[in-house]
Amino acid sequence: MSERILIFDTTLRDGEQSPGATMNLAEKIRLAKQLEALGVDIMEAGFPAASQGDFDAVAAIAREVTNIQVAGLARAAKDDIDKAWGAVKHAKHPRIHLFLATSPLHMEHKLRKTPDQVIAQIRESVAHAASYTKNVEFSTEDGGRSDPDFLIRACIAAVESGATTLNIPDTVGYTQPDEFAALIKYVIEGVRKHPQGKDVVFSVHCHNDLGLAVANTLAAFRSGARQAEVTVSGIGERAGNACLEELVMALTVRKDYYGFETGIVTEQLYPSARLLSRIIGQPIPMNKPIVGANAFAHESGIHQDGVLKHRGTYEIMDPAAIGLPSGALVMGKHSGRRALASKLEGMGYNLKPEQIDIVFAAMKKLADLKKDVFDEDLEALVLEEVYRIPDKYRLQHISVQAGDSGLPPTAAVVMDVDGETKRHAAFGVGPIDALFGTIAAIVGNNCKLEQYQVNAITGGADAQGEVTVRLSRNGDTAVGRGSHPDVINASARAYINALNRLAKKQEER
Ligand code: KIV
Ligand code: ZN
Repeated sequence: MSERILIFDTTLRDGEQSPGATMNLAEKIRLAKQLEALGVDIMEAGFPAASQGDFDAVAAIAREVTNIQVAGLARAAKDDIDKAWGAVKHAKHPRIHLFLATSPLHMEHKLRKTPDQVIAQIRESVAHAASYTKNVEFSTEDGGRSDPDFLIRACIAAVESGATTLNIPDTVGYTQPDEFAALIKYVIEGVRKHPQGKDVVFSVHCHNDLGLAVANTLAAFRSGARQAEVTVSGIGERAGNACLEELVMALTVRKDYYGFETGIVTEQLYPSARLLSRIIGQPIPMNKPIVGANAFAHESGIHQDGVLKHRGTYEIMDPAAIGLPSGALVMGKHSGRRALASKLEGMGYNLKPEQIDIVFAAMKKLADLKKDVFDEDLEALVLEEVYRIPDKYRLQHISVQAGDSGLPPTAAVVMDVDGETKRHAAFGVGPIDALFGTIAAIVGNNCKLEQYQVNAITGGADAQGEVTVRLSRNGDTAVGRGSHPDVINASARAYINALNRLAKKQEER
């Protein structure tokens, strides 16, 4: 039997550190459930010491997730570790993940500690974490730029104090595959010589600053690492982390080469990437390997001809293996509430009866505007109608006029602001400019529009438009999304959603 690679997903922690990728509690729980269905072995649910919101989210996820391990991140300090344990202890399989930097640069300039002081802190903090649980992971932050012999010393100090997983991160995405493989081999051989280092699991956590995160992770497996820290779609700090879909499909498609197994249900890869994209309001890039819209599209005549004769000529994966939807019609005008409820359950949404009522009403409205209602449409409705944060601002009515009748583009908007109806109308350079200017005037908010993007959720001229809006104000940014068959309406929803998220962020200060 092939050896197993453990998949440690950090989408909810390192992934959430990616600019604009913040999620509310309901969205985090939904994503956590999806990661469980995807079959990751360990899910890093967050950094409980970062804020009360993070603590509550990790505790809620720990209670919800039953089949897999739930980790909470902590700096190597007593207070952080207490908070991490306080949040993850509710999980069936809790893990504390603590880290301390080991590179000369970080030790001298960030920690202002000598190597001996760092070793002492590792011993003390890991022992404290191990007093709560046997499932302790220790990470040597900036491991990729650390001295190999010092890494061995740090790792041995951690295992002697009770760590059962040792993670060597390439925190700044600096190393090259052969170099990283040699480092991991050297460290593993050094630690394995120690009696307590025999059974420890070695892990890697690679960032993608030079586009090598997946390559470095794969290289590390060949040196003995057996856990990979990854994120869905590779989101994460700066250029992101190793991408879960790419890593898993490399191991799956080239099992002949690597010879490893994972517990990932590959058919859940595309649904997971799509769900994340909807939640954070960032479309999946067209050319993204595995899950991008072009990943299975054949444009040139020669390729199309080849694929028609034999799919294997230009396709190394079956689209069904990553769960690409077949495009089957799921719901329509005449579908009943019970059919919707069982459909939603099949899609992984466990909604309360009153939430199903809300989605059912929205689905009926949508089916009046749009002939076919697909899985993706239902997903957008659930995210919009159920998981949305409680709104300070709500859209009531809009009327927008474009064209060149001699009158500049005009928007009139009626909104609910904290329960009070407000209305305004204004001109703009174009209809969207008029619309956003009018909403901004109503809420008295001088936000900057950083991004405006329109995508079609499904195919066809009556497809729902999905609009993503990114706003910033006083250093805070928020991404909002909105979907509707009318893109002007979707734009208003996205703009107001971003305003609500921004207001929530500023409220939580
Ligand atoms: O990149 C990094 O070093 C990290 C650690 C906290 C594991 O995210
Ligand atoms: Zn990281």
